[in-house]
Amino acid sequence: MFHLTEEQLAVREAARQFAQNELKPGVIERDSKMEYPYDQVRQMAELGFLGMMVSPEYGGGGMDTLSYVIAMEEISKVDSSCSVIMSVNNSLVCWGIETFGTEEQKQKYLPKLACGEWIGSFCLSEPEAGSDATSQRTTAVDMGDHYLLNGTKNWITSGGKSSLHIVIAQTDPEKGHHGINALLVETSWPGVTVGAKEDKLGIRASDTHTIMYNDVKVPKENRIGKDGFGFKFAMKTLSGGRIGIAAQALGIAAGAYELSVAYAQERETFGKPISKHQAIAFKLADMATEIEAARLLVYRSAMLKDQGLDYDQASSMAKLFASEVAMRHTVEAVQIHGGYGYVKEYHVERLMRDAKITQIYEGTSEVQRIVISRNLLKGELYVPMPGLAGVV
Ligand code: CAA
Repeated sequence: MFHLTEEQLAVREAARQFAQNELKPGVIERDSKMEYPYDQVRQMAELGFLGMMVSPEYGGGGMDTLSYVIAMEEISKVDSSCSVIMSVNNSLVCWGIETFGTEEQKQKYLPKLACGEWIGSFCLSEPEAGSDATSQRTTAVDMGDHYLLNGTKNWITSGGKSSLHIVIAQTDPEKGHHGINALLVETSWPGVTVGAKEDKLGIRASDTHTIMYNDVKVPKENRIGKDGFGFKFAMKTLSGGRIGIAAQALGIAAGAYELSVAYAQERETFGKPISKHQAIAFKLADMATEIEAARLLVYRSAMLKDQGLDYDQASSMAKLFASEVAMRHTVEAVQIHGGYGYVKEYHVERLMRDAKITQIYEGTSEVQRIVISRNLLKGELYVPMPGLAGVV
């Protein structure tokens, strides 16, 4: 049904080779030791994976969203600590700046981010503002030529390693979410403090921190969009981010499936490979079917975005479904592997732990259901696959 272009096929092959040859060998150790993948991030930068969708004029690869999700899937089959760093840098930070930033902001920040010299973080969540994202306690007080930023952000991906933060903060509480701004904050500026590193269930090699801002002076020219645009900026940017996380979930599920098929053909019980037992064969059939369905949703949301069509609902559907598939089928992969699945050497227990976060970050499964149901009630019942209206 899909005809991937030569370029998209080449991206898939490059990402697959990189994941299998460069990421796989040390992934268990990095996970166990919570060891940040410095070398692997540098390699991702060299291969162009950190700024895939950034325009070439700002130093990026100028690729479409579909190429990006194809690369995300392959890398996430092996190492979701690396793919979350890639996803946040590409879809939340670079895309947000390129789409809504000023020309000066793009020229100043995108080349550094696209080549991996700088890594970016997206700082929305707070101790008391996770799903309820309008309840921002971080303040950006308007001081004329600058904002004075104060507050705490939680669970910030790449928090201890990033050079640039997009910080969502409240400027005018009386205006509610219309009083929120998005600010570009360089982490070298006085008043930015990296707090505790999280010891996580999964994606353990990614660097997740609390960040504190204490009287940080942010020049006015570092605000993204007009005054009060910050919440819409966050929502719009997260719609695209969710396509990346959906692709990550797809990759985790597909990685667990590939390992399960290989194992089921090798491992024998009762005189035959376990793949020949219906109990296992049916599990593989369910995995393959649901993963293919997830892939269609992920590709569909990417294609809608690439064609300039509305993709808010599609990206939420893709993330909701792909993350549920990832969780369900990584549990099944552990079951297929039996006792071997429960130990680190066989990779599937890590994939199971990594799958869980895809149901939580960039909007929980419950938040995706809020977005989808609200869109349905607005009458946007179904957005057909581009080019396939009337076929699917
Ligand atoms: N595009 C543009 N505007 C949007 C929008 C979108 N996709 N979604 C909402 N808005 C606008 C609405 O139109 C509304 O504006 P108006 O009042 O002018 O009409 C405004 O935003 C508020 O919208 P809601 O009334 O729908 O807001 P709500 O309080 O009911 O919350 C929500 C909606 C969907 C639950 C939202 O709060 C949300 O998405 N929460 C989850 C936050 C999230 O995903 N956090 C992830 C953290 S980042 C992360 O995880 C990165 C990482 O490191 C991996």
